[in-house]
Amino acid sequence: MTPSAWTTTLSDDQATRALGAQVAQVVGEGEVLGLCGPLAAGKTTFCQGLARGLGVPEEVAVRSPTFTLCNEYSGRLPIFHLDLYRLGSEDEAEVLGFRERVGTVGVSVVEWADLFPDLFPLHTVWIQLEHLGARRQVTIWPGNSHLAAILPTLSLPNPGGHEPWTEQSRPMPWECSP
Ligand SMILES: Nc1ncnc2c1ncn2[C@@H]1O[C@H](COP(=O)(O)OP(=O)(O)OP(=O)(O)O)[C@@H](O)[C@H]1O
Ligand SMILES: [Mg+2]
Repeated sequence: MTPSAWTTTLSDDQATRALGAQVAQVVGEGEVLGLCGPLAAGKTTFCQGLARGLGVPEEVAVRSPTFTLCNEYSGRLPIFHLDLYRLGSEDEAEVLGFRERVGTVGVSVVEWADLFPDLFPLHTVWIQLEHLGARRQVTIWPGNSHLAAILPTLSLPNPGGHEPWTEQSRPMPWECSP
């Protein structure tokens, strides 16, 4: 069965941040967010909103961990911000302490997650960002998470007004041909 996903448009980076901040309100200990999408799709921007929504102060910079591979922030929960772009193999994830942390403690948010989907626990919430002209389209597979119930009610600050979420059956990001 093709999994259920919700999709909407994000008009600018503020809308991407707002989505991250709203998701932050419902994430709990051990939850994992797998971010997918091409270069410059807005993955780090989403993480910035998530971190602020979890209470990380504005003066703490939230940047792409492309070279550090894992950044850690303290909010209402510990946040592990990882990026798999430069990971050569699943085995290298051990160096990151991936299995000890992701899905176990705090909230993990992982950029380029679809490069190694087998690393992720079943309860991962998958979030795909895609270029849509100058804007972005976001698609979320909430599974059985708390997000499933509230996702269609999240209202995002698009200048032209909030675009409603639509539900569709869609293959997981790593199942789509490039
Ligand atoms: N909804 C949006 N509409 C238009 N631009 C956006 C939107 N969301 C984020 N951006 C912009 O897209 C650019 C790239 O964002 P970001 O660095 O978050 O992408 P990324 O997916 O993390 O990239 P990378 O693949 O290099 O890690 C930034 O300039 C950001 O402000
Ligand atoms: Mg990034």
